[in-house]
Amino acid sequence: MFSGILKMKKVFAACALALSAFCVSAQADTLKVGSHPTFAPFEFVDSEGKAIGFDIDLINAIAKANGDTVEIVSMPFDGLIPALVTNQIDAIISGMTITDARKERVEFTDGYYKSIQSVLIRKADAEKFKKVEDLKGQKICTQIGTTGDKFARTLSEDVIAMNNEPDALMELRNGGCAALINDRPTNLYYLLQSKATEIGELKDDSLYLNPEFYGIAVNKNNKALVKRLNAGLEKIAASGELKSIHEKWFGVAD
Ligand code: ARG
Repeated sequence: MFSGILKMKKVFAACALALSAFCVSAQADTLKVGSHPTFAPFEFVDSEGKAIGFDIDLINAIAKANGDTVEIVSMPFDGLIPALVTNQIDAIISGMTITDARKERVEFTDGYYKSIQSVLIRKADAEKFKKVEDLKGQKICTQIGTTGDKFARTLSEDVIAMNNEPDALMELRNGGCAALINDRPTNLYYLLQSKATEIGELKDDSLYLNPEFYGIAVNKNNKALVKRLNAGLEKIAASGELKSIHEKWFGVAD
């Protein structure tokens, strides 16, 4: 594990001996990285239960560039930050938006993906719900602990927070809620996968006014790891690997 006072002491001791910047970057390690793999195409599980996706490839590439290895630890989205602050994991990669509220508890790397919120509705309701404002007071489905959930609560008090996106989509299809709010790439992915032709996206340009940036979260007292991950991110951006990973999951290089 990279985290913990003990490890920091080890790094400091190594640095004191080596008296060079090399000591920090030479410290290879296995990073325990928490993720909630129900958020395709960023993190989800394959038929064997293995976590795959853009984020998983990204963290593995970053670690590899730094000479580290990764162990993905699956946990519920709202359990990720508590696990990080109590040192059960070293980092979080989970399509996690960098927000001021989260920044009070954890440190983020540079943003690695730009996203926006999106709203799915039943096509039959398209005349009723033409813009986000029309959802005021409606029953809205979200994924628990997400920025989409927070946004939904600015529109309505009637919010059903589900554990994962497929369940939320099912609820929308069954008429259990009027709309589903979540990050756009994930909404579009599950919409396509489920072949839910009766569901469509509510188009509202105001959603583009609030872009969100995903970052890798690290414990506040582990500045060395933030630096190391940022350096790895820069390396894979420069080598073109980041673009290939993007292309693999999104069909385009950026
Ligand atoms: N970007 C949103 C947020 O940070 C949603 C992320 C949900 N990720 C997941 N793996 N379930 O709140």
